[in-house]
Amino acid sequence: MEVIIQPDAGAATTLAARMVARLLRDKPDAVLGLATGNTQLELYRELVRLHQREGLDFSGVTTFNLDEYVGLPAEDPRSYHAYMRTHLFDRVNLSDERAHLLDGTAQDVPRACAEYEAAIEAAGGIDLQILGIGVEGHIGFNEASSSLGSRTRIKTLTERTRRDNAAAFSDAELVPRHVLTMGIGTIVEARACLLLAFGEAKSQAVAAAIEGPITAMVPASVLQMHPVARFLLDEAAASALERADYFRTVWEEKPEWQREF
Ligand code: F6R
Repeated sequence: MEVIIQPDAGAATTLAARMVARLLRDKPDAVLGLATGNTQLELYRELVRLHQREGLDFSGVTTFNLDEYVGLPAEDPRSYHAYMRTHLFDRVNLSDERAHLLDGTAQDVPRACAEYEAAIEAAGGIDLQILGIGVEGHIGFNEASSSLGSRTRIKTLTERTRRDNAAAFSDAELVPRHVLTMGIGTIVEARACLLLAFGEAKSQAVAAAIEGPITAMVPASVLQMHPVARFLLDEAAASALERADYFRTVWEEKPEWQREF
């Protein structure tokens, strides 16, 4: 695992965007796994900026989002479909047919989930999976106790996650109780994972994921088993890491060409 600590969220986001841009330049038909949430907002803003100012090309790119609320149609402004349209899809040259999200209104849920898995496979698998982390260590909406081998399926959100996601809803009670989410087994099949975490509230989950045991109680800890997993943190999110100094040294001692994207 590579743990990269940046002075603030802005610097970390700029670096994350450069990593994504590098992939798209090296592989114009790359398959991206995408996350939603507050952490990713600046990343999408920066990718839009790179598209507008530097011609970053999304025309050959395919995307798969991690999750969607059960019961919210794609047109609902609180859905992750809407989030992605607003913050990325409508602002870059990504084709509609290649932007995939789970259907929160699917009647046959197991079938919709199996089809999503099949679509990822048909696209050749995910090159780079962008991830955030919940304060209790979830990735996607795989809450603590999710099987580390799980596939795309329906999950029940914890009350904590529902509270943390209440901002988009006028009343916290309106946050759906269920979501469709890629499984942990699905996520770790990506050829590379990039987890972004900012702010003190994430520090315990980050430390548990990086320095604690691999356990279903901290789903992000599964990344310890991944051959190409990067954590991109600001100082606050890194503040509970015992080995923060070591991670800084490793990054700073890398030759310039390995730190440039
Ligand atoms: C959302 C997702 C979640 C979020 C996590 C952090 O698609 O997969 O795992 O990344 O809940 O959310 P924020 O960034 O809002 O703190």
